[in-house]
Amino acid sequence: MKKWFAVMGDPIAHSKSPQMHSAWFEEMNLDAAYIPIHVTSDKLESAVASLKTLGASGWNITIPHKQTIIPFLDELDSLAEKMGAVNTVVTLPDGRLKGYNTDGAGFVHSLEDVIGKDKKELEVLLIGAGGAARGIAFALQQYGYHKLTITNRTVEKAEDIVRELGEGQAVSINEAEQSLEKFGILIQSTSVGLADSNYNLPLSLEKLQEGAIAADIVYNPLMTPFLLEAEKKNAQIVNGLGMFVHQGAIAFNYWLGQYPNTNNMIKRLTADLEK
Ligand code: ATR
Repeated sequence: MKKWFAVMGDPIAHSKSPQMHSAWFEEMNLDAAYIPIHVTSDKLESAVASLKTLGASGWNITIPHKQTIIPFLDELDSLAEKMGAVNTVVTLPDGRLKGYNTDGAGFVHSLEDVIGKDKKELEVLLIGAGGAARGIAFALQQYGYHKLTITNRTVEKAEDIVRELGEGQAVSINEAEQSLEKFGILIQSTSVGLADSNYNLPLSLEKLQEGAIAADIVYNPLMTPFLLEAEKKNAQIVNGLGMFVHQGAIAFNYWLGQYPNTNNMIKRLTADLEK
């Protein structure tokens, strides 16, 4: 029987997930469909029940439901439990719903596409301590990056993540700026570089190490103010598109047991965004 999947969020019209998963189904000759569903917060519980009744094989969840969906699921993957957020639901063979979080691992896959898997000894600076940063911090730890420093405008939130990780350190933005030359990998996870916000940097890159790796989780624009500034300082750039594509690929793999072609998808979506 035809399998079907969905993404639920509010708003949802801008999501590139339907286009991405549908292209993979076609490329891989899979008889499956993926649809966007606009679900407001007050309808989330009934939407989950409906997807279950109608036999969805799985779905993605985006803003603002990544945390609030948890009570409506039967089981959580351990990483999703630590993160306190779910972006992927799998309908198990017995009909129970299991929640996963593929955002953080998607980021690490995207980073390693560009820098390889042998840079785990580098000092990492994670800028931001919101939901996205939390996912990335736990995934970095799981993938063997143990030299982590988190900086955030509200430093207490960085301290909370460090406490939950049981390793790493939290520093103020000012301290991070002063010690910037020690970091080999910088990850920008704040909303400061979003297309419709002010063209500001989350911190000064004045003391950036020559040849450092600078990654952003924002992919629209592909080159954020942070990446443009880092590029001027000869950093190696990782834009946010790879994270988006890999979070989808990991979800796809949970649903269908195959890892789709991410390189082609990154090229295709890059061309779309550059238009
Ligand atoms: P997300 O789920 O995308 O991570 P979030 O949980 O709202 O979103 O987190 C937003 C992040 O961007 C936080 O680190 C936030 O800093 P605070 O914790 O101090 O609020 C950061 N951020 C947002 N706007 C910012 C700004 N103008 N300057 C600095 N940091 C900002």
